[in-house]
Amino acid sequence: MTALRAHHRGGPEVLIVEPAPVPVPTDAEVLVAVRAAAITFAELTWDETWTRDGVGRTPIIPSHEVSGVIADIGSGVSDFERGDEVYGLIGFDRDGAAADYVTVPAADLAVRPSTVPHTVSAALPLAGLTALQALVDHAGVRPGEDVLVHGGAGGVGTLAIQLASILGANVTTTVRSDTSDLVRDCGAQRVIDVRNEAFDDGPAYDVVIDTVGGQTLDRSYSVLRPGGRLITLSAPPPIGKADEYGITAMFFIVTPSRDQLDELAALVDRGQLHVEIAATFPLAKGREAFESGRQPNRRAGKTVIVVSD
Ligand SMILES: NC(=O)c1ccc[n+]([C@@H]2O[C@H](COP(=O)([O-])OP(=O)(O)OC[C@H]3O[C@@H](n4cnc5c(N)ncnc54)[C@H](OP(=O)(O)O)[C@@H]3O)[C@@H](O)[C@H]2O)c1
Repeated sequence: MTALRAHHRGGPEVLIVEPAPVPVPTDAEVLVAVRAAAITFAELTWDETWTRDGVGRTPIIPSHEVSGVIADIGSGVSDFERGDEVYGLIGFDRDGAAADYVTVPAADLAVRPSTVPHTVSAALPLAGLTALQALVDHAGVRPGEDVLVHGGAGGVGTLAIQLASILGANVTTTVRSDTSDLVRDCGAQRVIDVRNEAFDDGPAYDVVIDTVGGQTLDRSYSVLRPGGRLITLSAPPPIGKADEYGITAMFFIVTPSRDQLDELAALVDRGQLHVEIAATFPLAKGREAFESGRQPNRRAGKTVIVVSD
């Protein structure tokens, strides 16, 4: 098969398109003929991309969100058949989907939304699962609550705004580019452009979903009402700081979930969830796809590698 691979650790410059062996599914896995694979620009900086259990695993294949068609199944898989159209999040310490084929544990896949092309369903798993797990599993957002989403124009942010709105929350979001129309279309009732307005003028929220980190995280404790929940995607919050403000603060790492993928697919098929695509690239230009993350004034949304139309 053809694959985008890297033989040693580095940035987009180490990626090359070359022939690679078709992977063979184990008992609990399926082989997916990839139609589209979404990328996360930061994935080339993560240890899990390059190592498993501390041991180097090059050559690696990047792009950990897949949409495609099942081409083969392991002997222990009974819930899918060849030809099923599926999508899902692939563990970061495994080979990704920037290739003609990828093997994935069957439990990490679900039937993809049927009303959108593969380029769109490929862009949903990581950001969608992250937003859903942040809002539902970790923040327990309830109807009528005030939710602040930092980085609302991002992959996670656009979905977090939409899902929080669907849950009945009043959503405020921060942006730092000309994306106010986009985040309002997602359902944000108030937009704070941090280039000319501060977001931290007193406790006004029950929940903060922080996709930005750093100073934004540091300044978010004070905007929560007592009992509020701060969920950050960047790094574990410092011990004790949440107690000083009478709130809870936590970091988590997204995990694959078929039930939640089913939920996201249903929302897409009902027209309730929109996935923003910034750009698509053919597999032959996979390196350019990763390089596009460095462009200033990049369009909002996910970048997707189209493997087969
Ligand atoms: N823990 C987990 O399991 C998990 C899962 C998924 C993602 N993540 C992490 O979450 C972060 C967001 O992911 P993503 O895919 O949504 O990234 P993304 O698509 O690049 O979005 C980030 C967004 O935040 C905006 N932004 C940056 N600084 C800001 C600021 N100070 N105030 C307001 N907005 C700001 C960016 O605007 P510009 O475009 O103008 O820069 C962009 O719209 C990444 O660090 C990613 O690694 C963690």
